[in-house]
Amino acid sequence: MDPLIQLRDVYHAFGQGGLRKTVLQGVSAEIRRGEIVLLTGPSGAGKTTILTLAGGLRSVQAGSLRVFGEELFGATPATLLRIRRQIGFIFQNPNLLDALTACQNVALPLAWAGVIDPTEARARALARLEQVGLAEHADKHPNKLSGGQRQRVAIARALVVEPRLILADEPTSALDKQTGREVVELLQRLAQHQQCTVLLVTHDPRILDIADRTLSLEDGQLISHARGATQMATQLTAGVAELGRPELLTRQVASLDEPAFFRFLEESTGEMDELRRALQKARAQVSAARFDQLLVATTFKAGQFLRADRVTLFAVDAAAGKLRSRVAQSGSDQLLQIELDIGQGVAGYVARTGEVVRLRDAYESPLFNREVDRRTGYRTRSLLCVPVTNSAGQVVGVAQVLNKLGGGDFDEDDERRFKEFFRPIGRLLDQLIDTER
Ligand SMILES: Nc1ncnc2c1ncn2[C@@H]1O[C@H](COP(=O)(O)OP(=O)(O)OP(=O)(O)O)[C@@H](O)[C@H]1O
Ligand SMILES: [Mg+2]
Repeated sequence: MDPLIQLRDVYHAFGQGGLRKTVLQGVSAEIRRGEIVLLTGPSGAGKTTILTLAGGLRSVQAGSLRVFGEELFGATPATLLRIRRQIGFIFQNPNLLDALTACQNVALPLAWAGVIDPTEARARALARLEQVGLAEHADKHPNKLSGGQRQRVAIARALVVEPRLILADEPTSALDKQTGREVVELLQRLAQHQQCTVLLVTHDPRILDIADRTLSLEDGQLISHARGATQMATQLTAGVAELGRPELLTRQVASLDEPAFFRFLEESTGEMDELRRALQKARAQVSAARFDQLLVATTFKAGQFLRADRVTLFAVDAAAGKLRSRVAQSGSDQLLQIELDIGQGVAGYVARTGEVVRLRDAYESPLFNREVDRRTGYRTRSLLCVPVTNSAGQVVGVAQVLNKLGGGDFDEDDERRFKEFFRPIGRLLDQLIDTER
């Protein structure tokens, strides 16, 4: 089935000449029928721009934007009007007309859509008001209603034409927490009831869970986060941080299969990003604790997938010329603290050069430093050590597995997977260093 909304390389700029400012730099995304998708991102990122483009309220400058299967790029005004009539719009400010009653406000779009029989229009508007719990306020004027009630009238107005799509721009931002939550839950329920798709712009992290998916707009690009994994990451990190028992997270992550684990990693990175932003000012200790727990859980899991006896993740402290273990497994589920000079050993080599090192027997390599083995009484044989890079391609960490279980070597496939595992973690390490700064 065709997606309900499909953006392909949508570009948008405002202004002319030297004042020209590109807001969307080739945005691509798909929204399927019946989905509830949140659109988040920093102020000025272009969220409202996307909404107005998708709603046919603004012309598409470049790229392809299909809504209900119709191309909006180069569309005629008649096409745009036809599209708009199948969409319910909800804005931050309910934009109700004070001269009209709640019921008359709700009925307005029916008049635009050509329903002229006043009895029918009133009946349909009343039915909607009843759905949003405002039947007894139908004949009041908006200035006699509370903010939450006015926003519910706006929802009733958006739904009255039985739209296929609702576009909502920060509908809860003027409401208190409780009322905001009630309003979106109502919207979610009604939309599901009539299989209406919802694209909702929000800054409100408290309502992220009502959505099937979150799209975040950053630097002119859209990134999608699935709900299941988002929720899982939130619950795991939140729950475990409160309990202060990292081993629980480890155990829960351990039960995931490989695709689920990848999703978890990707989602955790998104979650951590949100968390980091929320906590940046407070610099709450818990943030660092969560990062650590997540690192421990994911690093252990990566070691498990590679069937390694030990796994270690070092963070590179370039300024101090050191590698510090963030996660280093010992035989007894205890974590080791290891600190190495960047000039030292295999991990130091990988940190300096960004190269991968794979050894059949570490003791045969001049790169290998036996110091840690000597300290711990361990005997390293096979070894795989990969660089962990941040989004800018700098080496911010080094991940290492030792001794493939059942003997044998780590192979090319292990190398590929190990690098893959630590791609999202590279972003986490970056953020961790940011938070600690
Ligand atoms: N009509 C316009 N003319 C010129 N620039 C505009 C216009 N509309 C938006 N912009 C600029 O485009 C950028 C994106 O605006 P947009 O309203 O889409 O952001 P937003 O993500 O919705 O932000 P917010 O969260 O603050 O509502 C902003 O930098 C804004 O200043
Ligand atoms: Mg906006």
